[in-house]
Amino acid sequence: MPSSAGAVAAVALLLVLLARGAEPIGLWLPPPSGGGGGGGLGAGAGRYLTQEERWMNQPLDHFSPTDHRQFKQRYYEFLDYYRAPKGPVFLYICGESSCNGIPNSYLSVMAKKFGAALVSPEHRYYGKSSPFESLTTENLRFLSSKQALFDLAAFRQYYQETLNAKYNRSGADSSWFVFGGSYAGALSAWFRLKFPHLTCGSLASSGVVLSVYNFTDFDKQIGESAGPECKAALQETTRLVDGQLQSGHNSVKQLFGASMLENDGDFLFLLADAAAIAFQYGNPDTVCSPLVEAKKNGTDLVETFARYVKEYYIGTFGASVASYDQQYLKNTTPTPAESAYRLWWYQVCSEVAYFQVAPTNDSVRSAKIDTRYHLDLCRNVFGEGVYPDVFMTNLYYGGTRIAGMSYVF
Ligand SMILES: *[C@@H]1O[C@H](CO)[C@@H](O)[C@H](O)[C@H]1NC(C)=O
Ligand SMILES: *[C@@H]1O[C@H](CO)[C@@H](O)[C@H](O)[C@H]1NC(C)=O
Ligand SMILES: *[C@@H]1O[C@H](CO)[C@@H](O)[C@H](O)[C@H]1NC(C)=O
Ligand SMILES: *[C@@H]1O[C@H](CO)[C@@H](O)[C@H](O)[C@H]1NC(C)=O
Repeated sequence: MPSSAGAVAAVALLLVLLARGAEPIGLWLPPPSGGGGGGGLGAGAGRYLTQEERWMNQPLDHFSPTDHRQFKQRYYEFLDYYRAPKGPVFLYICGESSCNGIPNSYLSVMAKKFGAALVSPEHRYYGKSSPFESLTTENLRFLSSKQALFDLAAFRQYYQETLNAKYNRSGADSSWFVFGGSYAGALSAWFRLKFPHLTCGSLASSGVVLSVYNFTDFDKQIGESAGPECKAALQETTRLVDGQLQSGHNSVKQLFGASMLENDGDFLFLLADAAAIAFQYGNPDTVCSPLVEAKKNGTDLVETFARYVKEYYIGTFGASVASYDQQYLKNTTPTPAESAYRLWWYQVCSEVAYFQVAPTNDSVRSAKIDTRYHLDLCRNVFGEGVYPDVFMTNLYYGGTRIAGMSYVF
């Protein structure tokens, strides 16, 4: 093996090339992994290198010297490509969803090339790594990126020892490289920032390192990606739906198979996400082609959009209507596969925000999806006092002025 600095440079270069072709990973509100959904997104059955569960004990609160409670964190390892004893260790950070294995992705190509061991721990609280059966707001207070980063540090040390024991050596220290996308991309960069001695580099794919309170740019980007014609069709659809809700026509929800969403904001958020997803994951035509065609041939835009939402967003992509329902988000005992919605909203409401509000001008989504809607959701779902202090979050990590080196974004 080359020196670790050389290895980092080589890895970094390859990553820049590979990251572009990589599958999009991570999502603001992930569809439940496992059963059928997530079309083309997550790794489906047979697309994992391994799904064999392993466990380690983690302190519940890394910041308390007196609280010695622990919880079991799930992780996976794949050693087929590992060139012992000098090969590096690639740590793939699982983000805001249940972590069901190590996906057979670009990472596997990299691991083969560099003779790396692959490991992937699940994020605390998500999937099977929850410290509590009941996800009450009180019990969620140990869910934060800061605790998650400390988990990664403890895991890194624990796994190094496991590896050393397996290969009958002591005190060895491998070259570690961390990977992640979206929120896990931010964790990847932040891990390198906060624990520079534990990793020699970080890939932060689409890393959301800057916390934003009113994240209007998200909607603006959708409009730009759509292009003028499709954007206009989307905006007209939004106006029509808004109008129907305004005049008390709740039947419009039925059209989308979303009658269960009593709160208009929840319903409109579902529609906004449904449109956004086509652009976020690079399939603009799925929504634009039918809408633009309907506009030209005089077909009802709302009905056309409703068909897209039902067939594509819910059918193919695997989104869940219920997950937009604040009543559902209040459930403190969801299944491990479905807990991600409540958990991610907690992180949004308590730390990172990224409120995907409508810009005051020219928005694609309904203007009713505003700051108030988000704050009301946070209060309704988690109670008083849960509030995202994005200023402190950015002060802690540095936002886009993140310090340090050996990152690939
Ligand atoms: C492990 O190391 C010990 C002590 O050096 C040695 O006695 C033993 O044979 C080694 N075992 C293997 C499997 O290499
Ligand atoms: C976010 O938007 C709301 C409503 O437009 C506004 O009142 C608030 O000051 C904004 N907050 C920040 C931090 O920009
Ligand atoms: C008009 O466009 C819609 C949406 O693509 C399509 O479903 C419909 O069949 C078209 N109608 C006509 C009369 O061409
Ligand atoms: C909003 O749009 C109007 C009309 O297009 C424009 O004059 C105004 O500058 C825009 N405001 C902002 C804040 O972009």
